[in-house]
Amino acid sequence: MQRISISSLMKMKQQAQKIAMLTAYDASFTQAMERAGVEVLLVGDSLGMVVQGHDSTLPVSLDDMIYHCQCVTRASHTAMVIADLPFMTYNSPEQALQSAGRLMKEGGAHLVKLEGGAGQIDNVAALTANGIPVCGHLGLLPQSIHQVGGYKVQGRDTLSAEIIFQDAHKLQEAGIALLILECVPMSLAEKISRQLDIPVIGIGAGAGCDGQVLVSYDLLGLTSGHVPKFVRNFLATSDSIEAAFSAYVAAVKAADFPTIEESFA
Ligand code: KIV
Repeated sequence: MQRISISSLMKMKQQAQKIAMLTAYDASFTQAMERAGVEVLLVGDSLGMVVQGHDSTLPVSLDDMIYHCQCVTRASHTAMVIADLPFMTYNSPEQALQSAGRLMKEGGAHLVKLEGGAGQIDNVAALTANGIPVCGHLGLLPQSIHQVGGYKVQGRDTLSAEIIFQDAHKLQEAGIALLILECVPMSLAEKISRQLDIPVIGIGAGAGCDGQVLVSYDLLGLTSGHVPKFVRNFLATSDSIEAAFSAYVAAVKAADFPTIEESFA
């Protein structure tokens, strides 16, 4: 099977086929996810929390990201691999280029992801002008957690919803290939997904997005502490980890995940 590309994801959006994405941090999970049919693997800086045991993503370094990216890309044959630019590694177009270049050259990533809206336009333009495809990330931004004041739903009032909506358009115009929307009301996510040409992937953003992503440890029931309402434990109803990944893919494809109860109004 040929590796998933940006144009295959665009085609899936045009044909209304849902896209299944999961976070991956190592070789064994990568292989199991690809056998289960996951199309996009995100080497997320969530690894700072679920692998390294920090209480946020902020301490993750670029070297940490490159190490985990290598673990994933060595084992990956069919999925598109996206790597997060970690906190404080894209404070200017020059720094973004240097950091993203390392994620691609040393880590083997196919795309890089950065968090933020209008403030990221210059970075996105510089990256895409230099052949580095970018995934945007709007809504709840875990790297800004101390500014936001906690892991809360974003875009609930008219003004903040409008800012997210406008930012999504600005990022698309600047050249992003894909957008992740995290913890926003399902009506807002559906509206953005319908209006943008590029695929929009939701986490805590309802079933109206073009695809879904989850932190893989969450879908295996390994969430420590509070379990967000958008997390479903797929291992609870499966008899192996690989079967849980397959059940997730099937539920995303059938738009059975997330349900309204697993989404925000
Ligand atoms: O780092 C990560 O895992 C992410 C997802 C929550 C989308 O950015």
